[in-house]
Amino acid sequence: MPNNAQLEPTIIVIFGAGGDLTRRKLIPALYNLLLDRQLPERFAIVGVARKNMENDSFRQRLRQGIDQFSRRGVVDESIWNAFANSISYLSENLTDPASGLALHARLTAIEEEWGLRANRVYYLAIPPPMMKPAAVMLQRLGVCRDCRHDRLVVEKPFGRDLASARALNLFLDDMFIESQIYRIDHYLGKETVQNILAFRFANSLYEPIWNRRYIDHVQITVAETVGVEERGEYYDHSGALRDMVQNHLLQVLCLVAMEPPITFDAEDIRNKKVDVLRAIRPIRTEAIHRVAVRGQYRKGTIAGKSVAGYREEKNVSPSSSTETYAAFTFHIDNWRWQGVPFYLRTGKRLPAKVSEISIIFRSPPHQFFPSAAVESWQPNRIIIRIQPEEGIGTRIQVKQPGTRLLLGAAEMKFRYKEAFQTPAPEAYETLLLDVIRGDATLFMRADQVECAWQVVSPILEAWESIPATDFSDYAAGSWGPEAADLMVARQGHNWLPPTFAEES
Ligand code: BG6
Repeated sequence: MPNNAQLEPTIIVIFGAGGDLTRRKLIPALYNLLLDRQLPERFAIVGVARKNMENDSFRQRLRQGIDQFSRRGVVDESIWNAFANSISYLSENLTDPASGLALHARLTAIEEEWGLRANRVYYLAIPPPMMKPAAVMLQRLGVCRDCRHDRLVVEKPFGRDLASARALNLFLDDMFIESQIYRIDHYLGKETVQNILAFRFANSLYEPIWNRRYIDHVQITVAETVGVEERGEYYDHSGALRDMVQNHLLQVLCLVAMEPPITFDAEDIRNKKVDVLRAIRPIRTEAIHRVAVRGQYRKGTIAGKSVAGYREEKNVSPSSSTETYAAFTFHIDNWRWQGVPFYLRTGKRLPAKVSEISIIFRSPPHQFFPSAAVESWQPNRIIIRIQPEEGIGTRIQVKQPGTRLLLGAAEMKFRYKEAFQTPAPEAYETLLLDVIRGDATLFMRADQVECAWQVVSPILEAWESIPATDFSDYAAGSWGPEAADLMVARQGHNWLPPTFAEES
């Protein structure tokens, strides 16, 4: 059982505590950490939001969130009671210049009761326009000044373009020290995403062939079956490029493409990732139509159920031109990856929830088998399945049983669930525990966020300047617009349908 004795007493203050993220992800994650005895022995959660609410109704709401969304199902009554005792709620209006007194008093009261200065984690689960008022308030109260004890977690979206991300970085930089700031991207907390590092660098088998000499191209797919659900207002001002590509997909790309770091130190790893972002070939405006595709779902059918089109969703403009699907071809200009296309795609209302990386290898340099034997030949490929059914699969060619020489593809599969009995923690569990421990390895540094914005900026600008007119261009339940197939077909490739789950 992991040991929590070394963890220092911690108070987590969640701004935006009335929101969905708190109920669906943060509180279930903290509850699961408690179940695993991974929270510090002295621990408190203070929820802050604008609305007036009693502690009890706040706790009740969180309890329902755990029952509904925790990977472990409904709460255990006695453990919940202990957990609930550590939770309290405060109503604060962050834009009020006199706000924060109640928060200051609550922090002081908890620390007086514990008889010590606790570590304080301020989790900003609030929309971008509220980030500055929250930071100003913390600064004014003087409650986030100790760079060893006080940390700030900043949820995505971090800005809405390069200029606003830069401005936010400068602003935070003026008030806090970079090592206090934890910019979160929950994809980096997923087990299989972290496993990319282990797979690549803890095995001597793959790294020698992980380059342009052996790899033909790479595909990264993050597909979702859900639509925009209750988040129409946010999403309609964001779109797939800002919501998924600038952060999650580019971070995954970095892990696939980065050079080996010298040590496991957070800065070493982040430096290597930034190198990848800096090496991504800038997209020229006149080439955008060839390397970037956007789409929006119209009504269709998913798992036998008919679903509405994007423009009919709640809080979405009926004439919206926000993209719910995006696909790109990126090139990385360095020695390792010159000439290897990286295809990325993500979309809502696609036929399956699946996040997968496919590494497709080149053909053998010399094919000496008789042509009849290799009729159904397929290139080797490695699939890293991020979710669901986390695992890794390798496709190889084998002789098919029989008296004739006929080659066929076979899969070698490793599945987390089968290989290890311990269930994987949720991404937010890993990341929250890292913040409590003060380990920033899985968080994004200021320059990393800015470089990622730099990569998508030309596309953002082009898409914003040429509004898409007829935009209902893929049916919900399909694999996205045809233009995305054409984009890869122009280079002689095709999107690989995710196969891992179907075969399992
Ligand atoms: C979030 C996006 O960051 O990631 C959502 O804002 C998306 O739109 C979600 O649905 C996907 O995360 P996961 O962990 O379900 O793949």
